[in-house]
Amino acid sequence: MPTFTDDQATQYDSRITRLVPGYELLHQLTNAQLQATLKDNAHILVVGAGTGKEVIELASINPTWKFTAQDTSNDMLSVASDKFAEQGISDRVTVHCGPLEKLKTKADAALCLLVLQFVEDNGDKKQVLKNIKASLNKDAALYIADLMRPETLFERDAQLLTCAKLGLGEAGQTHIRHSLENEFYPLDRMRFSELLHECGFSTIPKLYFKALGFSGYVI
Ligand SMILES: C[S@@+](CC[C@H](N)C(=O)[O-])C[C@H]1O[C@@H](n2cnc3c(N)ncnc32)[C@H](O)[C@@H]1O
Repeated sequence: MPTFTDDQATQYDSRITRLVPGYELLHQLTNAQLQATLKDNAHILVVGAGTGKEVIELASINPTWKFTAQDTSNDMLSVASDKFAEQGISDRVTVHCGPLEKLKTKADAALCLLVLQFVEDNGDKKQVLKNIKASLNKDAALYIADLMRPETLFERDAQLLTCAKLGLGEAGQTHIRHSLENEFYPLDRMRFSELLHECGFSTIPKLYFKALGFSGYVI
């Protein structure tokens, strides 16, 4: 997977919108569902919080919500922490670097956007999902967005053409083509549902976002 260190962390925000078609929309649609469903004083777990986009946008929607922002990259969380300080929301965010551990205060919702795609399906994806499940209240929803296995032979080519339109240069396209084939662990819908079931999520995942290879589900 990408290292998400050094330049990959400091330049993440400007690069990601050229790599994930619909990145802004994915976040908008996720946020709207949280706004529609969560009450005041909710606790939201953000797995793979990266440079803090989810936390910052959700914090501005409801000033009473609190967050746990977890990630395995110290450099990504460092960018995020600087932004939390700038926004004056640091006291509402518990930042955790390292593998997700069971939370002391269970969360009312969890987000795992563009993260599990980098985790191998060799027991590692299962471990992350089980840790999320153990950290959630009984009726809490989980929002997952990931690169999925292509459903047509031309989907990945179309994705690269879209990235080019979004401003990704030749070198970036070559890099992302290699990365899509070698650094991601996409699942098909059947395996995705099966894995969630194995981890104790009993509801059927509902698709709420689809942009070529990227799908967003609420569970
Ligand atoms: C593509 S970024 C997504 C960041 C953010 N969620 C967003 O939508 O912009 C992927 C993030 O997942 C983190 N990551 C990778 N494996 C992880 C794991 N097993 N647990 C938590 N975070 C992980 C990376 O460090 C990186 O910050």
